[in-house]
Amino acid sequence: MAKPHRIALFNAKGGCGKTTLAWNLAFGLARHAPTLLVDADPQGSLQHWADWSAEEGGEIAIAGPELLAQGESKHRFWVIDCPPALEAKETQQALALADFVLLPVLPSPLDLWASKRSVEALQELHAGRRGRHAALVLNQSEGRSALSRAAENAIANLGLPVLPGHIARRAIYRSAAIEGKSVYQMGKRGAPAVAEIERLIEEIRR
Ligand SMILES: Nc1ncnc2c1ncn2[C@@H]1O[C@H](COP(=O)(O)OP(=O)(O)O)[C@@H](O)[C@H]1O
Ligand SMILES: [Mg+2]
Repeated sequence: MAKPHRIALFNAKGGCGKTTLAWNLAFGLARHAPTLLVDADPQGSLQHWADWSAEEGGEIAIAGPELLAQGESKHRFWVIDCPPALEAKETQQALALADFVLLPVLPSPLDLWASKRSVEALQELHAGRRGRHAALVLNQSEGRSALSRAAENAIANLGLPVLPGHIARRAIYRSAAIEGKSVYQMGKRGAPAVAEIERLIEEIRR
């Protein structure tokens, strides 16, 4: 399988971690090869974040949704942060371009239920197409609690592969964001988060 170069973070459900994971994945991938973070949300909030991050010494190349129509850039990796709307033109363009779609899901029954529609939409879109891949990743997991195990089982039944590495609920994701940084710029405190983002990158590129 060709290594995915264009990775879209998608789930029509808001608040499941698309932007957080896109942001940190982009910083992680940028350590391997030139990476572009594509803010497909017409509201463009990532742009402000990236400008601010550059002031903090964390440079990341960023583009807005107009790049999706253009479809070309010199960067090896794209990380596309989709808006929380399945029908949005930007979402449709991003999903058509991506060779890997990552759907973050939270370990709560309501959230899982709300993610089902997004999973089905992807399955429809990818049906019969080779070289397109999608997977779920559990975000804000809380270790080995009974609730997390129940959530894992439910997630496994949603109908897409689930990546073995989970993203834990960690205050550092929020504090990094508050400082306009990725977890890679948070020193020792960021190390556990960096380790799980690195694992995610390995799993996506496998
Ligand atoms: N693994 C995590 N641990 C702690 N907080 C998280 C984690 N992932 C996301 N968050 C927080 O959850 C909120 C929603 O995340 P966000 O990435 O904005 O979701 P989305 O882009 O899907 O709407 C944000 O406040 C973010 O900081
Ligand atoms: Mg978002």
